Amino acid sequence: MDVMKAIENRYSCRAYLSKPVEKEKLMRILEAARLAPSARNLQDWRFVVVTEEQKRRELAQAAYNQAFVAQAPVVIAACSISSYMMRCGQPIAPIDVSIALEHIALEAVELGLATCWIGSFLPHEVRRILQIPTDAVLVELMTLGYPADEWKSPQRLSLEKIVCFEKWGF
Ligand SMILES: Cc1cc2nc3c(=O)[nH]c(=O)nc-3n(C[C@H](O)[C@H](O)[C@H](O)COP(=O)(O)O)c2cc1C
Repeated sequence: MDVMKAIENRYSCRAYLSKPVEKEKLMRILEAARLAPSARNLQDWRFVVVTEEQKRRELAQAAYNQAFVAQAPVVIAACSISSYMMRCGQPIAPIDVSIALEHIALEAVELGLATCWIGSFLPHEVRRILQIPTDAVLVELMTLGYPADEWKSPQRLSLEKIVCFEKWGF
């Protein structure tokens, strides 16, 4: 599958089959994250991969009862160990982690799997469930598994609305 095809086929999957994700596929997906770029190549991301059913149930509760979070056979808690700010004033943690997570999402598509970004959760609850220390930055959760729903056509603004050339034109 070429990259554009994977981008086009990715969607937010909110219903999963109970079929587990094969270890080889999971490791390949994590390898895609490992190869992501990061500021100063710090590779500050850390991923807690959750497959235990009880923990996934607790995570679903912490994610404001989004039931599909428990249904997905894998939930990844994406964290960073960096509080470093770039000279442009932006923190690297959410940027680096997000790039790696999208690598995960696209490689998942390549392997016939699906994902959903989860930003709606109670961070203190997720930290407690997964024993994430306070000095780590908890950025996002991502569900992963075989889809039980259908690809949805993306609803997006036209390029004209989001792109201008040479100077700010919005
Ligand atoms: C940072 C981020 C956080 C998100 N959090 C949630 C979430 O908590 N629950 C959910 O169902 N979808 C969540 N989404 C999915 C978005 O709603 C979805 O990407 C958007 O509606 C576009 O749909 P698509 O991904 O199917 O193209 C999140 C997406 C991003 C990028």
